Amino acid sequence: MSKSRVVLGVGGGIAAYKACEVLRGLTESGHDVRVVPTEAALNFVGAATFEALSGHPVHTGVFTEVPEVQHVRIGKEADLVLIVPATANLLAKAAHGIADDLLTNTLLTARCPVAFFPAMHTEMWEHPATRHNVELLRSRGSVVTEPAAGRLTGKDTGKGRLADPEEIVDLARLLLARPDALPRDLVGKRVVVSAGGTREPLDPVRYLGNRSSGKQGYALARVAAQRGAEVTLIAAHTVAMPDPAGVTIERVSTAEQLRQAVHTAAKPADVVVMAAAVADFRPANLATHKIKKSDDQPDPTITLDRNADILAELVANRAPGQLIVGFAAETGDEHGSVLDHARAKLRRKGSDLLVVNAVGDGKAFEVEDNSGWLLGADGSERAIPLGAKVQLAAAVWDAVVDLSTR
Ligand code: CTP
Repeated sequence: MSKSRVVLGVGGGIAAYKACEVLRGLTESGHDVRVVPTEAALNFVGAATFEALSGHPVHTGVFTEVPEVQHVRIGKEADLVLIVPATANLLAKAAHGIADDLLTNTLLTARCPVAFFPAMHTEMWEHPATRHNVELLRSRGSVVTEPAAGRLTGKDTGKGRLADPEEIVDLARLLLARPDALPRDLVGKRVVVSAGGTREPLDPVRYLGNRSSGKQGYALARVAAQRGAEVTLIAAHTVAMPDPAGVTIERVSTAEQLRQAVHTAAKPADVVVMAAAVADFRPANLATHKIKKSDDQPDPTITLDRNADILAELVANRAPGQLIVGFAAETGDEHGSVLDHARAKLRRKGSDLLVVNAVGDGKAFEVEDNSGWLLGADGSERAIPLGAKVQLAAAVWDAVVDLSTR
């Protein structure tokens, strides 16, 4: 990713300490980050921490380095402004154009995308004043992300937790690549995304699995939630990742469990995206004890039974107007290229869209970036250039919105 200038505005909430991790993530990906905290934020994290991690001086007011007119320069030079955490107070000031410190002045001079990552108590997030301020900011084109639900400061839990720093860095990466990638165009839509690889047990300690990391499915869920959808993520086995903010997660293990969970969640859904790597076969017999090797017995043979094709079942039972998106992981062989196989798969499966990834040689599985093609049942074909998995996710949701508004 090329070196961009990011302004990291830090609000005065307990989650300010997580801004340090966001800062770390951004600088490690090569970005030049200027931290602009509010005076209140410095009650939680010292300026020295931000200075050391960013390599830039840190000020809160407009009366330092006056000849440089910092509030104008910092805002104008930025490629992206992130506010982490966005407190109710900061959202209110930003919504109403109040400029009484360096950060709020910078917000008025910035002409780049601005993304607020809220963190506050549930009551404050749900207060009509905050709701109104969030709507106002969104209507002006700012991104105000959905906070996560979970443990808040003190003993309370609920909606209002800051999104995980890893997720914030991921979304920042998306906005830097595509400033228009998070419109609120999925509001009112119920979507189901399956992710990760299923495991088919052989005995109490062994299973047949696959190399899916679940990252693409998580990226799809994350982007859909931030575009306003009500998202259910059916997650099979994945690498360790933070739960996407604002997403309901159901965890499963086997293909059959995934099948049940997807069909239940799909009933009221407008869109179902099958990004999971589902095992096509399962061992016909599940040994109740660990299978032992023995010099007296022949080595065991594993007999496999076919699993149901969930995507095909979804297509066969779909509700009117429901959109179904499949994935195809292809390598290409002597019978045809990746795209030849994918076109045949789209015809066979009957989904509205098929996202095609070339796999093998370190492509797609267990890596950060992805590329592919988006094939439509109407014959359309679009190449998706190599980029972060959130970028591919945004391209999929663009295509879904396009299809559902036709
Ligand atoms: N899929 C599914 N149920 C299965 C197998 C796959 O719903 N039992 C879905 C996947 O989630 C994906 C799509 O079907 O969206 C294609 O998966 P893929 O493994 O590429 O295709 P297969 O149908 O398994 O075909 P093949 O392995 O023969 O290429």
